Amino acid sequence: MLHLGTAWYPEHWPEERWPEDVRLMKEAGLTVVRLGEFAWSTMEPEEGRYELDWLARAVEILWENGILSVIGTPSAAPPAWLTTKYPETLAVDEYGRPAQHGNRCHYCVNSPLYHEKTAAIVTKMAERLGRLPGIIGWQIDNEFNRVCYCPRCRDEFQAFLRRRYGDLETLNRRWSTAYWSQTYTDWRQIPLPIGYHNPGLMLEFQRFPTESYRRFQKMQIEILRRHIGKGQFITHNFMGWFGGFDHYALSADLDLAAWDFYVGTGHHDYLDSGAAHDLTRGFKRKNFWLMETQPGCVNWKAVNNHLYRGEVRLLAWHAVAHGAEAVCYWQWRSAPGGQEQYHGTIIGADGLPRPLFSEIAQLGKDFARVGEILTGTEPQAEVAILNCYESRWSIEWQRHHRDFDYVMHLKHYYRPLARRNIPANIVSAEAPLAGYRLVIAPALILMDSQRAARLKEYVLSGGCLVLTVRCGMKDEWNALLPALQPGPLAEVAGVEVEEYYALDEPVPVEETDESGITGQARIWAELLRPRTNGVKVLARYGPANGWLDGGAAVVEHEAGAGKVYYCGAYLDEAGQEALFARLVEETGLAPVLVTPPGLEAARRLAPDGREVYFLLNHTRTPQTVTLPWPAEELLSGERKTKGDFSLEGYGIAILIRE
Ligand code: GLA
Ligand code: ZN
Repeated sequence: MLHLGTAWYPEHWPEERWPEDVRLMKEAGLTVVRLGEFAWSTMEPEEGRYELDWLARAVEILWENGILSVIGTPSAAPPAWLTTKYPETLAVDEYGRPAQHGNRCHYCVNSPLYHEKTAAIVTKMAERLGRLPGIIGWQIDNEFNRVCYCPRCRDEFQAFLRRRYGDLETLNRRWSTAYWSQTYTDWRQIPLPIGYHNPGLMLEFQRFPTESYRRFQKMQIEILRRHIGKGQFITHNFMGWFGGFDHYALSADLDLAAWDFYVGTGHHDYLDSGAAHDLTRGFKRKNFWLMETQPGCVNWKAVNNHLYRGEVRLLAWHAVAHGAEAVCYWQWRSAPGGQEQYHGTIIGADGLPRPLFSEIAQLGKDFARVGEILTGTEPQAEVAILNCYESRWSIEWQRHHRDFDYVMHLKHYYRPLARRNIPANIVSAEAPLAGYRLVIAPALILMDSQRAARLKEYVLSGGCLVLTVRCGMKDEWNALLPALQPGPLAEVAGVEVEEYYALDEPVPVEETDESGITGQARIWAELLRPRTNGVKVLARYGPANGWLDGGAAVVEHEAGAGKVYYCGAYLDEAGQEALFARLVEETGLAPVLVTPPGLEAARRLAPDGREVYFLLNHTRTPQTVTLPWPAEELLSGERKTKGDFSLEGYGIAILIRE
C-alpha cells in the first residue's frame, strides 16, 4: 500500500465544513491524514479540562470515508495558560532570554513539569483515541529542534557529564583543560558553551540534546504503547540533514522514520533530495514516510516560487522510488489566520481546489494503481556511505576552511553514484557492513578503537573501503589522536597523512599509472606518505604550495582479502567523476539502468524476487532511454518493447520487466 495524504487542522473550521473537506480529500484520492499535532489549546482549553471528542469525530468522519489517520502529539505547541502559569517550562536562549509564547517548540525539553503536562495530555489522547478504528499511527511532537540554556538544563548537562566521565580528573584529562586554565574542580563550574569553546565540551554539548529529546520522546512512546492498538506505528517527523541531534539514536525507539521535505526556493535537484530520502531510509534501515512535503510553494523563503507543473508529481514518485511508503502534503487548507497563511495548500481560501489539486488527484490514481505491487519492496544498495553526527559536529565548529561542510562533502561522494543510477545506503557509521561491495567513510574524523576494528574487519574480509580527507584524526572525546591520520586505520590504508592543508587556491591533481584521476583539489588537500611498497599511488599533486608538489594525493592498498582507497584531495567534479569511474570498475557495481543525464532509474525489490523499476525524467524536456528488456508500464498499462523508449518532460514510468 502506498499512501497519499495531507495535514489537516479540523480545529480551524466549523464542523459543518468537515464533510466537504473529506469529500474533496476523497476526490483527490487521499488515503491518510495527519491531525492534532498543534492542537493542544483546543484539546485542553484550560488546565485539566480535556476536550477530545472533536478529534475523535474528525477521525471518525475520515474513517467513514475510507481515510486513515495519523495523530500527532501536541507537545511542540504548549498552550498559553501553560507557559504563563509555568514559565519555567519555557526554553531559554543562550543570552538567558525565555522564549515568547506564540510560536512553536518553545519548551524546555528537560523541564520535569513539561514532561508531566505532556504526559497528561498524551495519556488522555491515547485513552480516548488509542482504540479508534482508522488510526494507523502516531507522530511524537513535531520536528524536534530547540536547544535550551536554562539553569536546569545546565544542571542536567553537568549530571550527564558526570555519568559519562565518572570523575573530574578524567574529564579534565580528556578535554586538556589545563589549556587556558580551564581545569574544573567542581561539576557545577562547567558551563553550557556559547560560541567557540573547548572542543571536548562542545562535542558533549551536542551529544546532550540527543539524550534529552530521546528521553522526552520515550516518555511519550511508553504512554502511547500502553493504550494504542498493536498495529499502530509511532514515528517522528525529522528534518533531513538537520544536525541538532543524533537521528540514529532517536530513531532507535521509533517504529518508523519520517521526514518533512521542502524544496523551498527554486526547483528540485534530484541528486540532493535523493540523498536526503536515502538518509532518512538509513535511520532505521527501512522504508520511511514523507510526512510533509511541498504542495507548490512554501512561505518561509526569500522567494517562494511555485514548483513547475508536473514537478510535484515527479517529486512524489522520486520519494517513492527511494523508499517512501507515504507522501503527505503540508497542508490541506490554510487557516484564515496564523503565521503560515501564504504557504502552499491543496484547497484554496474559498474552500475549492487550487490548480495543483489536479496533479495531486492524478497521484491519487497513480498510487491506487501501483500501491499493491510495491508492497514489501524496498530500494537495495551495494554501497554504504557512513554518516556520523559526532564527526559532523566535530568538524562543524572547527572547519579550518570556511567551505568545508561535512554534509556537502558527504554528498560529494553520493552524487557521482546517484548520477550513474547506482543506489547507495546512507547509514550510521555503526551499521553492519557485511555484504557491501563498497563502503565510503567521508570525513570520518572520530575514530575510536571499536569503530576502527569494525572497518578493519570489513576490509580484511574482502570489502572495499574508501577513506577521505580528515578521516581518523580524533578520538571520541574530540581530542587529537597521538598518531597521524587515519590513526588506527593507517596500517590497512597503507598510508598516513603527513600534513593537511586548507587551500586558498586550487591545486592540480594528476593521474599516475593511467589511473584516469586528474582534476583539481580545492578546499582541502592531504599529503599522503605510503608506509609500504604495496601502496599504489593513483594520483599526485601538481605544482602547488611547495609542500604538496609531487606528493601522493590518492592511493590504493590491498589489505587481507580487501582494499582501501585513501583520497587525500577534496576533488573537483572532474576529479571526483574519474575517481568514481575507477571505484565502480574495481568493485563491479552495476547501474540500475543506463540513462541519459537527468533521467533517473531506480528500483525497489521484494524478498519474493519482485522488481519494480522507476524511470524519472527530472528535466523539462523529453528524454529517451534504451530498455534492455521488454516491460509492462504500470501507470498506463502499456507494454513497452525492448529498445528506445521516450519519456516526456517530468515524465514517469514504472516498469515490471517481462
Ligand atoms: C514544517 C512544519 C509544518 C509547517 C511546514 C511549512 O515542516 O512541520 O508544521 O510549518 O514546515 O513549510
Ligand atoms: Zn532548559
